[in-house]
Amino acid sequence: MRLRVDLLPHGGYPDVVLVVDVLRATTTAVAYLERGAEGLLLTRTPDVALALRPEGDEGRSLVLGGERGGLPIPGFDFGNSPVEAAAQNFTGKTVVMNTTNGTDAAHTAAQTGKHVLLASLTNAHAAARRARSLATEEIAIVCAGTDAHVGLEDVYAAGVLAEYLLALGEFSIDDGARIALTIRRNAGNPIEALSSSAHGERLGGLGLGEDVRYAAQVSTSTLVPVLAAEADAPEGTL
Ligand code: MLT
Repeated sequence: MRLRVDLLPHGGYPDVVLVVDVLRATTTAVAYLERGAEGLLLTRTPDVALALRPEGDEGRSLVLGGERGGLPIPGFDFGNSPVEAAAQNFTGKTVVMNTTNGTDAAHTAAQTGKHVLLASLTNAHAAARRARSLATEEIAIVCAGTDAHVGLEDVYAAGVLAEYLLALGEFSIDDGARIALTIRRNAGNPIEALSSSAHGERLGGLGLGEDVRYAAQVSTSTLVPVLAAEADAPEGTL
């Protein structure tokens, strides 16, 4: 079994893909499920998300969450804050997400990956176990990064996932995995690593430091979003 870590998404995944966007898309996706969401749809663009909302859907069976530049998208119900998501009740609702990097990374993974799972620090152990149970030849951990720049927080989380996977079985690992494991072992504890990342600092500057602290919790959830390009799903959704 091969294990690889892509420090940024680039596609060509033959088997299982763990998409990581710790600050904040995959952390928030897990929080939606923890708070009862029945489903997640990840769109390519905000317009696809807005078009999904049925006319006069006062019941808001479909809620929209996402951000640009870390701030909520106009017309959406929520931003991309896991702390905000964790304070709501999403029972009976489907959450449609569109974010700057995380949802794009998921779509890139879904172009070739057989199984696309969303991983964060909060569901790391469960995500590693689920990936190991599904994989037959390779597990790729894909770091979303931020605006096409490698994100320390995602590489750190990839190192945590890699450690869990190596404890579950034999893997041949690539240099990306070696880099992620080195970062994991040298960047301090999760709070230190996430807070010292460029995106963690940017979120702190926006007054969203609580999201960074929330995202630094390790394996507090056993829920793992598994995405499938539904045959009848609207164009551009997962
Ligand atoms: C992303 O998807 O780019 C990030 O989650 C951005 C954010 O929410 O701060």
